[in-house]
Amino acid sequence: ADVRLWGGRFADGPAEALERLSASVHFDWRLAPYDIAGSRAHARVLRRAGLLTEEELTRMLEGLDRLAADVADGSFTGTVADEDVHTALERGLLERLGPALGGKLRAGRSRNDQVATLFRMYLRDHARVIAGLIADLQEALIALADAHPALPMPGRTHFQHAQPVLFAHHVLAHAQALRRDAERLRQWDRRTAVSPYGAGALAGSSLGLDPEAVAADLGFEGGSVANSIDGTASRDFVAEFAFVTAMIGVDVSRIAEEIIVWNTKEFSFVTLHDAFSTGSSIMPQKKNPDIAELARGKSGRLIGNLTGLLATLKALPLAYNRDLQEDKEPVFDSCDQLEVLLPAFTGMLATLTVNAERMAALAPAGFSLATDIAEWLVKQGVPFRDAHEIAGECVKVCEAEDIELDQLSDEQFAKISPHLTPEVRSVLSVEGALAARSARGGTAPAAVAAQLAETKADLARQ
Ligand code: ARG
Repeated sequence: ADVRLWGGRFADGPAEALERLSASVHFDWRLAPYDIAGSRAHARVLRRAGLLTEEELTRMLEGLDRLAADVADGSFTGTVADEDVHTALERGLLERLGPALGGKLRAGRSRNDQVATLFRMYLRDHARVIAGLIADLQEALIALADAHPALPMPGRTHFQHAQPVLFAHHVLAHAQALRRDAERLRQWDRRTAVSPYGAGALAGSSLGLDPEAVAADLGFEGGSVANSIDGTASRDFVAEFAFVTAMIGVDVSRIAEEIIVWNTKEFSFVTLHDAFSTGSSIMPQKKNPDIAELARGKSGRLIGNLTGLLATLKALPLAYNRDLQEDKEPVFDSCDQLEVLLPAFTGMLATLTVNAERMAALAPAGFSLATDIAEWLVKQGVPFRDAHEIAGECVKVCEAEDIELDQLSDEQFAKISPHLTPEVRSVLSVEGALAARSARGGTAPAAVAAQLAETKADLARQ
């Protein structure tokens, strides 16, 4: 029997080369459970429109249950000749119910509205999985901050020593980025909770089917689409999902890069756990941060998935075009990659050792308290432009003499500027510099403690 859903007007079967090109069943098979859920909902609206008897509906649902069980245990699968998952499952239903009943289900629906609906359902489920994995990663960052509430480290700009900050402050900055990513997923989900089922090929159905009932049945809180052409042709929900997952990859890659640097001999800020590091096949001493490197690498791949998809969508006329079959593999891949990456990455963060002494020792290096001299001068009434000059002069003298700022003598200070009385020493400590930045969002221990509490409360609500 011809499995194609469109054989009627054709004298010949498809060329093998066409079949091979056309087939998507090897990648869209993962939509099978959603396709069957859609079929159940569709059967119910066919019944409500009087197009199936009660008895036919019961047998139809029972046939779909058997099909679902056979899909779940692998005893039924699609083949290349099936073209796509929708065609394969229709064949499966026909095999189980016979053509008289099985052939009734396709009334009033098209693969165009089906695939647009099922794809939304699949991505919504995976958005939830990914949001859960991000919450675990946020948890690991919070635990790091919690474990080291008062540890100073060198804060950097341009990757140069800038000002001392708390390690907890730095780590919570990454948690903020992830909080926004989680929020993006939630907002995306709200926009995507609208069902295209009932849009048909593009124009809707003449059969009196109720798209709102199908939407409710399939868990679309936002109801059905307002425009059947848009419902079948739009894929901005896919592009936006690809963006959010790429953004997650990029945010994780920024943590990854720091872990890689912190884990070097030169930095020695962290030591990775053996279970979350790898060795070298030739160099026996090696312990490599492969998880962080893979995170960095996969972010490139996630960006590629987004740009590839946008290129597919660009300039496509309305409504459905077969180009749109290219929309699935990139974001399926984005889901797969994040779902293997995030647990490993979280495990790496949760098990690393922070070398606190080393971090604290480097916090004041690189004249990172020069800003504190300038701001102390401002509090004595010196205009900031002059204060900046004077503090810069202090750095110049220190560099020439190869000493640190707090090693300048009272005479040296006084020679640089009469404003630099010995009281300036009060700000020449890391603890003083940290404690002084106590406004909301700042690096003072109390401000960071407040931030930590806020971050925890936020995550609990997420
Ligand atoms: N497999 C197609 C896709 O993934 C859906 C089928 C629509 N095909 C068609 N000829 N109208 O986009």
